[in-house]
Amino acid sequence: MSASSPFNPATSQAHAITHLFIITLAIAVVILALVTGLVLYVIVRYRARPEAGEPYQEFGQPKLEMVWTIAPALILIFLFGYAFHTMREADPKDPPDTPDLTLVGHQWWWEARYKSGVIAANEIHLPAGTRLLARLESADVIHDWWVPQLGRKMDMTPGHPTTMWLQAGKPGVYLGACAEYCGAGHAWMRIRVDVQTPTDFAAWQQQQLRSAVAPAGGEAAQGAKLFKQETCVNCHAIAGAHAKGRIGPDLTHIGSRQTLAAGVMPNTPQNLQNWLANPQAFKPGSYMPDFHLSTPDAHALAVYLETLK
Ligand code: CUA
Repeated sequence: MSASSPFNPATSQAHAITHLFIITLAIAVVILALVTGLVLYVIVRYRARPEAGEPYQEFGQPKLEMVWTIAPALILIFLFGYAFHTMREADPKDPPDTPDLTLVGHQWWWEARYKSGVIAANEIHLPAGTRLLARLESADVIHDWWVPQLGRKMDMTPGHPTTMWLQAGKPGVYLGACAEYCGAGHAWMRIRVDVQTPTDFAAWQQQQLRSAVAPAGGEAAQGAKLFKQETCVNCHAIAGAHAKGRIGPDLTHIGSRQTLAAGVMPNTPQNLQNWLANPQAFKPGSYMPDFHLSTPDAHALAVYLETLK
């Protein structure tokens, strides 16, 4: 069973949903076997036999009719009750007014804004054992948040925010992806949820709250200059570097992320340079234009961005 499978739940919400699915599936399998078995039995046992003549005709069987009416009704009542119980387990009960974090789907990446002020992209960090209320929003079209092991799969509908509890028991990495076709980059809209111990999570938040420090010199300083010249600032924010764009991911801490472009490739200086030199080659349809950067410029930009831890 793959680690990101819904059959490997990591939260109480996901457990409840997996149980409901397995119970419903088991009941359906029993009914399918029973009906198929009876149909096959009747086909063979009561097949036409020329010597038998006209079969015995029977009209009305009140006992049988009661059984096949009451049994499905009881099954449906049970499933309704179980589904209701699951909804209560998986849904926010009296959610607080302010969510702990807001997750925003963009074409084609994820933004996470925490109550603490931290802004992250594509890699969402959570403290283990703490229940957080996430508010789901969309910046453009309908996306669908789904990290199977963490529970609910939920649409992000523009203008219609919803809420969902996130609570992972164990530290670890949980992978997911956008589950609603949202345009050219849909397949490259991966989610990585990093569940950390509360201490590690607090340290991560502290680090993410720091502004970027301008490089003192060398290639990184050259890259920082290019970042402003090449209009990167129109779309991207870097706290402390006068870059406030909100269309693309916040890059204040891009150097601390594991992957680039919502999971397209591991975050290495070489991959970042290749991405900057020709984003469309790696993520067709991405709103990151091809600036036709020279190799030295792409290199300097990559060096600068990797200093942003
Ligand atoms: Cu976002 Cu599919």
